[in-house]
Amino acid sequence: MEIQNAVLFITGANRGLGLAFAQEALRRGAKKVYAGVRNPTETNTPGIVQVKLDVTDAASIIAAAKQCGDTTLLINNAGIARLNSSSLDASMIDLSREIFETNYYGTILVSQAFAPILAKNGGGAVINVLSDATWFSRPMLAAYSASKSAVWSFTNALRIELRNQNTAVSGLHVSFMDTDMTSGFEMKKTSPQDVAQAALSGIEEGKEEILVDDFTKAVKQSFASEKTIYLNPPEIA
Ligand SMILES: NC(=O)c1ccc[n+]([C@@H]2O[C@H](COP(=O)([O-])OP(=O)(O)OC[C@H]3O[C@@H](n4cnc5c(N)ncnc54)[C@H](OP(=O)(O)O)[C@@H]3O)[C@@H](O)[C@H]2O)c1
Repeated sequence: MEIQNAVLFITGANRGLGLAFAQEALRRGAKKVYAGVRNPTETNTPGIVQVKLDVTDAASIIAAAKQCGDTTLLINNAGIARLNSSSLDASMIDLSREIFETNYYGTILVSQAFAPILAKNGGGAVINVLSDATWFSRPMLAAYSASKSAVWSFTNALRIELRNQNTAVSGLHVSFMDTDMTSGFEMKKTSPQDVAQAALSGIEEGKEEILVDDFTKAVKQSFASEKTIYLNPPEIA
């Protein structure tokens, strides 16, 4: 689909990748960007409409969908990451539940609320923001990685089902980005602006899986080799 004249609904669009998506969409001529945010603030950026949204709160999702009935492109971007010291750590269960509420159940609830809207508006598209961690786990990111694998699995089911209503569903896979989520960690990071550009170009080209950086591409390719990365994940990539 074309971004020009599209109406986007982006979860978690107040900072990080979500904000970069909003800015890049407007640069490409989007008609409007609904920024789903937990704490709406005074903003006078033309084209951006803040909408109160907490992806762990079903009532706020339903209210947002009611308000944004002209949406043609949904971006499930909101996400959280937490470190666990080990997969065997006692905190692993509570941590997993917390992360899954946002990353997995949040994505499902928002997708369910907006799928009928996309259908009514001609089909449109969905981008689910995933990660290189979709395809391998670092022990200290075990709970987060499991949540992204789960969202990928949901994405694969959703894309098959929504083909019936002409909605294209894409998974966006990216390694570390330079956002608040990785602040304080020294590693190679992609800028969220570059990721937003690659993702929206991917949507315009009709890609169902968008792999942004070389490391993420290497992870996926390595599934076919004996030296697959998920059996030997690097500490930091
Ligand atoms: N940074 C990376 O290295 C990296 C790599 C691969 C994938 N990702 C994924 O990229 C996406 C964006 O992450 P980011 O790097 O931009 O992180 P970020 O800078 O920490 O931003 C996270 C965004 O999600 C929002 N959010 C969190 N919980 C929410 C909730 N319950 N309801 C609504 N909004 C909520 C935050 O809103 P508040 O301001 O209210 O907290 C914020 O806008 C996430 O899905 C993340 O998993 C990140």
